[in-house]
Amino acid sequence: MALQAIKYTRGTLSILDQLFLPHQSIYISVPDVTTAWNAIKTMQVRGAPAIAIVAVLSLAVELHNNPPSSNPKEEIHQKLDYLVTSRPTAVNLADASNKLKSLTNSVANETPEIVTKTFIEAAEQMLTQDVEDNKAIGHHGAQWIQNAVGKTSDIKVLTHCNTGSLATASYGTALGIIRSLHSDTSLSHAYCTETRPYNQGSRLTAYELVHEKIPSTLITDSMAASLLSHQQISAIIVGADRVAANGDTANKIGTFQLAIIAKHFGVKFVVAAPTTSVDLETKSGEGIKIEQRPGWEVLVVSGPTVVNVPGKDDGTVKVNVEDVRSVKQAADGIGVFNPSFDVTPAALIDAIVTENGVVEKNADGVFPMHEAFK
Ligand code: MRU
Repeated sequence: MALQAIKYTRGTLSILDQLFLPHQSIYISVPDVTTAWNAIKTMQVRGAPAIAIVAVLSLAVELHNNPPSSNPKEEIHQKLDYLVTSRPTAVNLADASNKLKSLTNSVANETPEIVTKTFIEAAEQMLTQDVEDNKAIGHHGAQWIQNAVGKTSDIKVLTHCNTGSLATASYGTALGIIRSLHSDTSLSHAYCTETRPYNQGSRLTAYELVHEKIPSTLITDSMAASLLSHQQISAIIVGADRVAANGDTANKIGTFQLAIIAKHFGVKFVVAAPTTSVDLETKSGEGIKIEQRPGWEVLVVSGPTVVNVPGKDDGTVKVNVEDVRSVKQAADGIGVFNPSFDVTPAALIDAIVTENGVVEKNADGVFPMHEAFK
């Protein structure tokens, strides 16, 4: 069975708390937007598409269970604005918020029931649409890589961070391409980075790859150049939190250095993302706000974690992650630089794969983004 990060039925939403993975699968209820905001901020749910979907569904649940009797549009807009403040870099939530605001504007003169119902149905549609989009991304990306490297077997890829079922409604983006290559029997091996400091690679992607029985190997972030010098890697495939109008792409910290390494070795560098990650309003990577995360994520070995405590009924206890002394690995007094994302210049990217197909650079060496994403 596929991993499910988001469980939704009208009026109830729960998410798989990703802070406990891979040790425990614990679902937590998200009955309102405040709970969703906190879950996004603390990364109980993360990944650009999943953040957007959980945010809008939390509002759908709140509206279903406490329908506003007057002016639902105002309430919806206010709560969407609040949700968008949770994490700044991924554009998917802002995109969803803008779309849902225009939709509710278009029915603002209808009864409160109709406005509320329109919002709830549109939020639900985003959940189902994301799965379809990811499958299309998987298909287009797999085909592009097969053509680009001229083979349909023995393809080895490297991926970064987590872009799978845990980061989306299901299936995944970059991991969706890996799934698709695997089901075509084209994939011989997937490598994933640890993705320090938060370890989405070792905690989440490795977990998904093992769960899907995809032949896979974990490396630390510092081993990528060595891997490419020793293995015939066909492509590095990553996701995106925001793709600017020139193709510059913000993604998990460490993506930029992988793109430089790919260029050095002549390995294809592929960005996979739904069109909801494309932001034509932001001209280039310089305009993308990069989230700075708390220093303790770097000071501890693996960030939020659980450890075995013999004698406890369930065998585990959660470490207080704010208390860095409990799992600290660095010298007292050291400063910390912890940007959560970096920007890979378009010049280092070979293909941008969305549900609509693959965008490549034109003869002038630029991505025709405005034509592709009108
Ligand atoms: O900080 P995170 O875990 O939310 O960062 C996630 C990433 O950078 C992913 O690569 C990106 O959101 C795409 S997920 C399909």
